[in-house]
Amino acid sequence: MLRTVPVVALPIGLNDLVYGLGHAACPRQMPRFELAMQQACGCRYVFTADSGTTSFYLGLLALKKVSGRTEVILPAYTAQTLVTAVLAAGLKPVLCDITLDDFNPDIQSLLSSVTSRTLAVVCVHMFGIPVARTAELKQQLPPEVFLIEDCCQALGSQIQSKPAGSWGDLSFFSFNRGKNISLFGGGCLATNSDRLRQSVEQIVAANPRRSGWIQEMRVLTGLIGLAVAVRPRMYGLLYPLLSRLRQQPAPQRVRVGAMSGAQAGTGEALLRKLPFFSAQRQSRVHDLLAGLSQCSGIRLPRIQTRLLPACNRLPVLFEQPDRRAVVMRALLAQGIEASLMYLQPLHRAFDLGYKADAFPASTYAAEHLLTLPVHPLVSGEDMRRMIDTIKAR
Ligand SMILES: Cc1ncc(COP(=O)(O)O)c(C=O)c1O
Repeated sequence: MLRTVPVVALPIGLNDLVYGLGHAACPRQMPRFELAMQQACGCRYVFTADSGTTSFYLGLLALKKVSGRTEVILPAYTAQTLVTAVLAAGLKPVLCDITLDDFNPDIQSLLSSVTSRTLAVVCVHMFGIPVARTAELKQQLPPEVFLIEDCCQALGSQIQSKPAGSWGDLSFFSFNRGKNISLFGGGCLATNSDRLRQSVEQIVAANPRRSGWIQEMRVLTGLIGLAVAVRPRMYGLLYPLLSRLRQQPAPQRVRVGAMSGAQAGTGEALLRKLPFFSAQRQSRVHDLLAGLSQCSGIRLPRIQTRLLPACNRLPVLFEQPDRRAVVMRALLAQGIEASLMYLQPLHRAFDLGYKADAFPASTYAAEHLLTLPVHPLVSGEDMRRMIDTIKAR
């Protein structure tokens, strides 16, 4: 069976799993994981939950406690669960467009959507390419508007040597399948603000903080499966099954739960290697951008030098969607999985009162984008194959 490199993956070692197993249902483990995350994301306060979506939702509830404003601005090209969380929090999603330079929010489009009703704007560091103008955005926002950083795909990325996630009022992270640190679920909310800390603590205290043994067992089985399945030889063997499993619909509602001890233990072990993993991701991004720079018919992201992009995957735009499909198939035949991402922009996926042509860059990204693997399991030979295959088609 053909060795196949998954589009997103992380090497989880036996020692990481044993450490996680040792901390299943251990009440002392969560503060240790939170401490490790504080260091990784440059925030003094970290609160774990069962997913990135839950963390975002709890963060919104905390903001509602300190402000009567009702609207949350999101980029139109991002995960659908963000809209679900905003609606579940009883708030109104307002969309802005993205820029095709780096797939992050278009700052002008975002600022022009801010009104006296705006509670927060969500700066999504899409694909792990950090929003270069995060500090500038924070300065330009009225003081009543909170800046939330969505770091679900950007754990380990940095802006001017400071972690993505440490620039805004709140940030949130995901440890779901395919994230930079993948723990078969889990997420966290982070802040440096003492005022918001109090509000978040009150919200978090009202929700489940402990996982039960059934959840611990489910997570441990999932983690073991994940650790084995992402290895390219095993992934190639299981590909027909796994590619079908991945096509799960986005959840329609938010169910708040706790992160498990096994996730926190495995996560703490993996976070020790985060700088190493991030450097590997950055170097693969750099090499792919260099290797594809002369290739016609594609558009590569522009990544400024003051950023460290610990990319989750590398986004590439194909002028011709047909060529995108041909390249995707050719890469798979070479043992490299590439994937589409967000097939619909948010204004088409939800009825939020926008016209179908409202956000042209977001729509273009949905129709023309292909993402390539840049994780630590991608070898030099895989890189060469990716570059040659794309250039040849
Ligand atoms: C940019 C972004 N935000 C939020 C989320 C939601 O995270 P989770 O799946 O942990 O709920 C994801 C997950 O796919 C994401 O990619």
